[in-house]
Amino acid sequence: MKVLVTGGCGYIGSHTCVMLLEAGYDVIIVDNLCNSKRDVVDKIKEITGKDVIFYKGDVCDYALINKIFSHHDIVAVLHFAGLKAVGESVLKPLLYYRNNIDSTLNLLEVMTKYNCKNIVFSSSATVYGAPKTLPIKESAPLSTTNPYGSTKLYIEGILRDVYEADKNWNIAILRYFNPIGAHKSGLIGENPNGIPNNLMPYIIKVATKELEVLNIFGDDYDTPDGTGVRDYIHIIDLAKGHIKALDKVLSGSGIVCYNLGTGHGYSVLELVKTFEKVNNVKVNYRIAPRREGDIAACYADPTYAFQELGWKAELGIEDMCRDAYNYVMKCKRNTSD
Ligand SMILES: NC(=O)c1ccc[n+]([C@@H]2O[C@H](COP(=O)([O-])OP(=O)(O)OC[C@H]3O[C@@H](n4cnc5c(N)ncnc54)[C@H](O)[C@@H]3O)[C@@H](O)[C@H]2O)c1
Repeated sequence: MKVLVTGGCGYIGSHTCVMLLEAGYDVIIVDNLCNSKRDVVDKIKEITGKDVIFYKGDVCDYALINKIFSHHDIVAVLHFAGLKAVGESVLKPLLYYRNNIDSTLNLLEVMTKYNCKNIVFSSSATVYGAPKTLPIKESAPLSTTNPYGSTKLYIEGILRDVYEADKNWNIAILRYFNPIGAHKSGLIGENPNGIPNNLMPYIIKVATKELEVLNIFGDDYDTPDGTGVRDYIHIIDLAKGHIKALDKVLSGSGIVCYNLGTGHGYSVLELVKTFEKVNNVKVNYRIAPRREGDIAACYADPTYAFQELGWKAELGIEDMCRDAYNYVMKCKRNTSD
């Protein structure tokens, strides 16, 4: 069974491709490599011993997506492709709306044309805005505070409209919490260039002395140690959630929406301390003022995904810290060879 994975060279997409191949799916990737590298395809093949079809190109390119569907009998799409940097989205909202929404519209149009009406979409916990109650259930009120989040919320709305108009669609909206970690092999993972937007890559760059110090924004939140609390989830658990969601979609789900998180919040300081302990390294940090727009705590209620999909996160914070560091250190060794 062939599935199309948009953004399959990216962080979450690449790990999900490994799981898809291991589950017996044939994988076609389309990625414009705007935030990833071509060699990820080889790494996916190396891990799984299986072949992958790769198209370098943009999901906003209708002719390309049409060509892919005309060449392959695709049963479902896992749609990861998108820009994801919150700060950049504030500076360049049109880029985000154009890229994330156009790509989705194109994809849905071509899927309709080829009667492929099964899709798993990468949404985000950012659609919960500043949550009023914790843990967050799927039924919580939705709002966003930046253009990136708005693209996710709009796309969720587009998917609901598409489903309302044609009940033959099967759509899984997955709201991710904070994926970190890497594949055990150390062959794929997250290692952004420059100044990272997310905490774990930042911690690693400080641990490896690429960056001098980690700023922890605020230590006076209403949390156990005063620093912000988030629901970190191992990328492998997250990837496994996609296989379960895909199975659900292919069994005729209609439109469904699941939180993919652990249900457990860890503070920034807990993450830093655990990272130091399991990797036996020092992370130089200092407390900085709160950042505007940051919330004290955010973690999922993942009960619904467990009830409906039989999925729950299994790996812990120590695995996340160890595997994330292992990947980056392996990248470093390979580039210095
Ligand atoms: N990583 C997170 O913390 C997180 C949290 C919530 C939601 N998400 C969402 O999950 C998805 C995957 O995230 P990720 O962390 O793997 O990001 P990523 O940047 O590592 O991967 C996205 C991939 O999509 C590709 N891409 C972007 N726009 C494209 C386009 N128009 N055409 C073709 N390829 C395109 C990029 O080159 C990249 O390989 C994104 O939609 C993101 O918004 C991520």
